[in-house]
Amino acid sequence: MKKFYFLIVSLIFYSNSFSQTKFAIIGDYGKANVNELNVSNLVKSWNPEFIITLGDNNYELGEASTIDTNIGKYYSQFIYPYTGIYGPGDTVNRFFPSMGNHDWYTSAASAYLNYFTLPGNERYYDFVRGNVHFFSIDSDPNEPHGVDSNSVQALWLKLKLSQSPEEFKIVYFHHPPYSSSAHGSSLYMRWPFKRWGATAVLTGHDHSYERIFNDSMFYIVNGLGGRSIYEFYTIVSGSQFRYNANYGAMLAYSYHDSIVFRFYNVSGNMIDHFKILSSVKRLQLTSLIQGFYKTETNSLISDTLKVLIRNNSSPYEIKDSACGYPDTSGNAEFDFSHLNNATNYFLVLKHRNSIETWSSAGNKFINNALSYNFTSSASSSYGNNLVLKGSRYCVYGGDVDQDGIVDASDLSIVKNDASGGLEGYISSDVTGDDYTDAEDISLVENNVSRGTVSVVP
Ligand SMILES: [Fe+2]
Repeated sequence: MKKFYFLIVSLIFYSNSFSQTKFAIIGDYGKANVNELNVSNLVKSWNPEFIITLGDNNYELGEASTIDTNIGKYYSQFIYPYTGIYGPGDTVNRFFPSMGNHDWYTSAASAYLNYFTLPGNERYYDFVRGNVHFFSIDSDPNEPHGVDSNSVQALWLKLKLSQSPEEFKIVYFHHPPYSSSAHGSSLYMRWPFKRWGATAVLTGHDHSYERIFNDSMFYIVNGLGGRSIYEFYTIVSGSQFRYNANYGAMLAYSYHDSIVFRFYNVSGNMIDHFKILSSVKRLQLTSLIQGFYKTETNSLISDTLKVLIRNNSSPYEIKDSACGYPDTSGNAEFDFSHLNNATNYFLVLKHRNSIETWSSAGNKFINNALSYNFTSSASSSYGNNLVLKGSRYCVYGGDVDQDGIVDASDLSIVKNDASGGLEGYISSDVTGDDYTDAEDISLVENNVSRGTVSVVP
């Protein structure tokens, strides 16, 4: 019995560190030589859920006569449907290539397109595993839908990235926007990936490993999958790490709050590793505080607000919190570091002498952003717990002692401070004019008599 409890505790304790997906990344590999064999053995030793490739899957000319010897012989266990001669293949596809220049040397890339069965038009496509959205792009200039940043293909990527709720968005293709090796940088592939919402860009073509940080994002060159090894030449700006001493591949894990990449050589030595944290989540909140909002001027006296982010279900655990300072229209921004996209959260608004107010339901951040408005309808709050002032809804004021109810104890504090003629930034000032006086007493009295309490799930 003791052991059983220990197991449960362990599972809870470690649940945050479980990876959501684990995948391998190979580039410039399809040569059917001992280097490809060594890299494929390394990759298989990791038992990845799936493999993505960074192009040049079938040297030298992308022909049907070589494709199975170059790919299936080493990776058939991951391919479905698999029609080659090296075993039965898989029962579900776990091999997601991207196209290289060598794959296009056979007319219309017909051997590649016949050999693989892939999503979408197969030349460029997307898929989701765990909390990662993958985008396989065709960077070869033969691509019928184009390879510049305004092409049909690029606009497809831009749209898909903008609509993706996943935490991490990995874009991968063959020709590197930045590289210090023989081919160098493919300038036409410098699309605004970061602005469109990508997490990282993985490429090949140069037969080297390089980690470059530009445009606030990692760009990786990983072309050591087996074909040959290139030298480094002019070092591009942003180049942080370079390796070309041996062949190798990358292994990546995604977690709820980060994604980790490693490059290993074929001897099993970890040569490089880096981690990308999930992005800051920004809440744009519109809210007004009863006593601080003046209908005559339709403006708010600004005061610090705090938002708690809670789980969507009991016991509504607090996941994060942040402070914000609204403008006179009631708009404020709150930034959070520990939240995820596509997860439902309750928003809990707190102010130093107002009633704690919850959103009516759970809300999700999409692409790291969420807007919420507490001022346009009572039903935006849990239990319709807002007061209409003029044409806008406000959070109830008067909870001076912050115990979730406006009652005699709040009134007594305000009356006491009013009789003492207190002024300044004091909690009994529920109207925001830096005085505690008859106006404050009146607001609290009204809210006491209507039985104002915090309404929570
Ligand atoms: Fe290439």
